[in-house]
Amino acid sequence: MELIKVKDYDAMSEEACAFLVERINRIENPVLGLATGSTPEGLYKRIIEKYNQNEVSFKKVKSFNLDEYVGLEKEDPNSYYYFMKDKLFDHVDISLDNVRVPNGVAADLKQECEAHEAGIKAAGGIDVQLLGIGANGHIGFNEPGTPFTSKTQVVDLEQSTIEANARFFNSIEEVPTQAISMGIETIMNSNEILLLVSGENKADALAKLINGEVTEDVPASVLQNHANVTIIADEAALSVV
Ligand code: GLP
Repeated sequence: MELIKVKDYDAMSEEACAFLVERINRIENPVLGLATGSTPEGLYKRIIEKYNQNEVSFKKVKSFNLDEYVGLEKEDPNSYYYFMKDKLFDHVDISLDNVRVPNGVAADLKQECEAHEAGIKAAGGIDVQLLGIGANGHIGFNEPGTPFTSKTQVVDLEQSTIEANARFFNSIEEVPTQAISMGIETIMNSNEILLLVSGENKADALAKLINGEVTEDVPASVLQNHANVTIIADEAALSVV
């Protein structure tokens, strides 16, 4: 694992933008694994700036999102589909035919999970997977205890995750209790992984990922087993490493 230490959130976003733009420009038909949450927002803002300066194009990009809440329509402002359109897709030249966010309101959720896996396979696999990390060490919505052999599946959210994400909703009762998430194995099959970590509330999880044992109790610890991981973390996130 390569660890890039930066000062703060802005520096993390800047560094991540340079990293991703370089890959999008270098890889012939880039397949990206994309993430939501507060962590990548600054990165997406900067990528849009680079797009507006003609430094990057998404014309040949295909993307697959990590996860989606079960029960939220695409039009729901709290759905991850809406997030991706609002924060990135609507502002660059990506074709919506080339993006796939799991459908959290599919009539058959199991089939939807299989379709997500099949889509990734048909695209030739993910070149670069972007990740954030939960304070409990989750990646995607793979909570502690998720088997490392998991593929895209419906997952139950931990109470701590529901509480952490309640900030986006009117009340905690509105936060879905389930999600579709790419599995740990799905994530590990990516050629390259970029993990972004910012803030003191992620410091424990990051320390466990970097120095702890590889265990299903800390889903992100599996990244120690991946051959091509870059972590960009700020000082606050690195405060207990
Ligand atoms: C969320 C998402 C993850 C994300 C993580 C951290 O619940 N499902 O994909 O990486 O938790 O979120 P944030 O970046 O908002 O701290």
